[in-house]
Amino acid sequence: MTTLWSPGEPGTLSDGRTRDRFGAGFLWGTATASYQIEGSPDADGKGPSIWDTFAHTPGKILDGSTGDVACDHYRRMPDDVALMAGLGVNAYRFSISWPRIEPEDGAVEMRGVAFYDRLVDELLAHGIAPVVTLYHWDLPQWAEDLGGWLERDTAQRFADHAEWMVENLGDRVHTWITLNEPVVASTFGYGFGTHAPGKVLMFDSFTATHHLLLGHGLAVQAMRAAADGDLRIGITHNLSPVHPETDSDADRAAAASLDAIQNRIYMDSVLLGEYPDPEVVGIPVDRSCVSHGDLAVIAEPIDVLGINYYNPTLVSAPAEGNPLPFELKQFPSEDVTDMGWPVVPDGLREVLVQQQERYGDALPPVMVTENGVAYPDTLEDGDVPRVDDPRRVQYLREHIAAVGRAADEGVDVQGYFVWSFLDNFEWAEGYRPRFGLVYTDYATQRRVPKTSYTWFQSFLGGRS
Ligand code: NOJ
Repeated sequence: MTTLWSPGEPGTLSDGRTRDRFGAGFLWGTATASYQIEGSPDADGKGPSIWDTFAHTPGKILDGSTGDVACDHYRRMPDDVALMAGLGVNAYRFSISWPRIEPEDGAVEMRGVAFYDRLVDELLAHGIAPVVTLYHWDLPQWAEDLGGWLERDTAQRFADHAEWMVENLGDRVHTWITLNEPVVASTFGYGFGTHAPGKVLMFDSFTATHHLLLGHGLAVQAMRAAADGDLRIGITHNLSPVHPETDSDADRAAAASLDAIQNRIYMDSVLLGEYPDPEVVGIPVDRSCVSHGDLAVIAEPIDVLGINYYNPTLVSAPAEGNPLPFELKQFPSEDVTDMGWPVVPDGLREVLVQQQERYGDALPPVMVTENGVAYPDTLEDGDVPRVDDPRRVQYLREHIAAVGRAADEGVDVQGYFVWSFLDNFEWAEGYRPRFGLVYTDYATQRRVPKTSYTWFQSFLGGRS
C-alpha cells in the first residue's frame, strides 16, 4: 500500500487552504451513534433495540461482539465531551437511542431523556452545538415485534417519538436529523439481512424504505408543530456517485439503476416528491405500500440535507446469472481502507456538485454529516501512549479540501463532521474497523487521541 502522506503546514488542507475558506458559521464536528458508543444496554430502564437482539444472535457480528459495552460512553459522557471540546469543534452529531426513551410501547422513561438532557447541557457548556439524529438504526425491539419498518404504523410511532424529543430538547437543540442513511437501514436490515433486524426480503425491502421515508416526513411535520422556535430539520443520506465502467449503453444503464437504488429513491422522494422511474430502477419493486398523498408528506420541506460520503461506486452491466441489474467493480484508487473501500477524495466534491446540478433550487443547504476512514491503527504503549495515523490525516486534508472545491463551485455547504469521534462498534463488522480520531483501548476504555486528532485540532485553530 502506498502512503503518500505529507503533513503540509500545520492546520492546512492538501491544497494549502485553511478553515477560513469556510466562513464563521460553518459547523465543524465529529459524529457518533448511540448503539455504536453508549453501551449500558439496560441502564436506567432502557429497553432492548433490534441491534441488541441482532448482535446477541450467534453468527451475526463478524468478531462475535455486541454493543453491550462499546465505548462505555453512557457512563463516561462528561469526560468524552471534555476530550471533544479539546479538539476545538463547534458542533457534535450524536443519535438518540429510541428504546432508552420509550422502552415499551407508549411508555416514557424520563431517566433516558435525562441522559440526553445532560449531554446537551454538557455540550453547550463547552460551546459545542448539538446536532441530533433521531434514528440511527436502533429501533425499539417492541416496535419490530409490531412489524418494524414493514408496518406503516411504525412511521407514525417514529413521528410521535420525534415530537417528544423536540418537546424535551427543542429549547436547546437547533439542528435535527430525522433518519440516518435509510438506504442502509432498509437494504441491509430488510433486504440482505446483514444488519438488524436481519430480514432477507431482497427487493421487497422497498416497503421498509417507503415507511422509513414516510416516518421522516411525518416527523418533520410533527417536529415543526411542536417547536416553539425555529428548528433546522433535515435528513441524512449516504450518497455515492455511480460511474459506469465503460461508455457502453449496457454499463450506463447499470450505473443509472444503482444510482436510482442508492441515491435517487431517497433524494427524489424527499426533494421532489416522486420516486424514480421503475424502468430506470430496473428491479421489480412492489409499490403497493405507497398510498395517495404519501409522497407529499415525504417531500415536506426541509432546511438542511445531510450527506454522508465514503466512496464512489463503479459498476458494469450484470454478468449472466446475476439477479441484480448491475455488477459492482472495485473503483480504481491509490489507497483502500480497512473496510475495503476506495479512497477517492474528489468523489466528495463530485457528489456535492451533482446534487446541486440535479436538484437546483430544490436542494436546501447541505452538511457533510459523515466522512471518515477506518485504518488498522495500532497503539504504541509506553510512558506516553501514541497512535500515529498519518494516512487518516492525509484522508482528512484531502476530503475537506474537496468540500472547499464544491463550495467554490457554488454548493452551499454549511458543515462537516468527521466519522468518528472515537473508535466504536462498526455494526456487523464488530470492533475491528477503527474510524476514530481518538483510539479506544477496549480492554481498559482508555482514550488515546491519534495524530489525526491533533491535526484536526490544529486545522480548527485550537491547541496543537
Ligand atoms: C455510516 C453510518 O452512519 C455509521 O453508523 C457507520 O459507522 C459509518 N457509515 C462507517 O461505516
